Amino acid sequence: MLFDLQPKTRREDLYDRENELSEFQNAVNLGENLILLLGIRRLGKSSLLNVALAESEMPYAKIDVRSLYFTHGSIPQEILARKILDSLLATVSGRKSLRLKLEKVLSSIRGLRISGLSVEFDRKPDLAEILEKISSWAENENLRAIIAFDEAQYLRLSGIRYDGLIAYAVDNLPGITFVLTGSEVGMLHDFLGLENPKKPLFGRYAREIVLQRFRREESVDFLARGFEEVGIEPGRQEIEEAVESLDGIVGWLTMYGYLRGVRELSHSEAMDELFNMAEKLIWEELSSLIQNSRRYGVILKAVAMGNVRWSTIKEYVEFKLGPVNDAKFSILLKNLLKYGYLEKRGNEYSIPDPVVKEVVKNLQLTLW
Ligand SMILES: Nc1ncnc2c1ncn2[C@@H]1O[C@H](COP(=O)(O)OP(=O)(O)O)[C@@H](O)[C@H]1O
Ligand SMILES: [Mg+2]
Repeated sequence: MLFDLQPKTRREDLYDRENELSEFQNAVNLGENLILLLGIRRLGKSSLLNVALAESEMPYAKIDVRSLYFTHGSIPQEILARKILDSLLATVSGRKSLRLKLEKVLSSIRGLRISGLSVEFDRKPDLAEILEKISSWAENENLRAIIAFDEAQYLRLSGIRYDGLIAYAVDNLPGITFVLTGSEVGMLHDFLGLENPKKPLFGRYAREIVLQRFRREESVDFLARGFEEVGIEPGRQEIEEAVESLDGIVGWLTMYGYLRGVRELSHSEAMDELFNMAEKLIWEELSSLIQNSRRYGVILKAVAMGNVRWSTIKEYVEFKLGPVNDAKFSILLKNLLKYGYLEKRGNEYSIPDPVVKEVVKNLQLTLW
């Protein structure tokens, strides 16, 4: 169902994304070992990743790095190793001889035990060694093992040099393809440092698949088809209005479709409920940022209220929170660009997601 709120896993529930899927498959077929899926929140990266992995017919492991980070407060090697192996074992569970060979290769690692579909370590595992085994197994089988890190920019917060590990694998382990997704595109680029001579992945090639929002007529068609699926027929006017406020951001369109078509709320109730839900969600997403500096929140509010220039945004922030020096203020703005909360065209800043913009505009500064 198009209006299912969970990230999609099946092609038939995924609207379009044909080009992105075939580009992904093409990169895998060519034996490329680093693929990036990029785009702001709620454009469907996780959904695309799920479907692309399922269709690749390759063994794969998928790790939700964001939730790992928030569960553990960091990303210990041992936990990452276990997640990779558990996930890989699960995806080959139905292919018996493949699974047995993988188990055999892994059993040569000291201190590693496999019980059912899960691995245990008697000592601190060496992730590089584990990746070497996975790669040689995949090569022997004439396959590639795909290791996908969803919201990979969180790897940078772990204190462990995972960029170095990925660089090692990219250079030396031809049986593995890494797929990294990132909502915080600038942060992911910083972490990888493909263009930073001081970083281990400098100069490496990556296939970048950048998700775009739907064009207007695609958004309208997406909603119309979704409503047809659930057997209701809202007026054209309502659909147009929804697309007007939500733009082509599939996550919001899906939420609206769910509220209007599955919960069967009226158009205005569905829009109200969407903004209620969005407010909670966006507040959660922003809260760790705002805990670092309240100025982030005030900058966003300034932009949401129509201040687009460096100087007018700064004036607003200083009016609310007192003086801030130019260099410090520029860093805050740059970070918001890297997190994907702001966009910059020429000299003008904007908030790329109209729902975020609306929610931020209404935030009460006194509550922070
Ligand atoms: N191509 C698509 N067709 C239908 N629904 C989609 C599509 N892409 C994403 N969605 C829906 O949009 C929401 C956000 O998708 P998700 O994959 O979690 O985005 P992201 O990982 O970029 O934040 C989910 O409810 C998901 O089901
Ligand atoms: Mg996601």
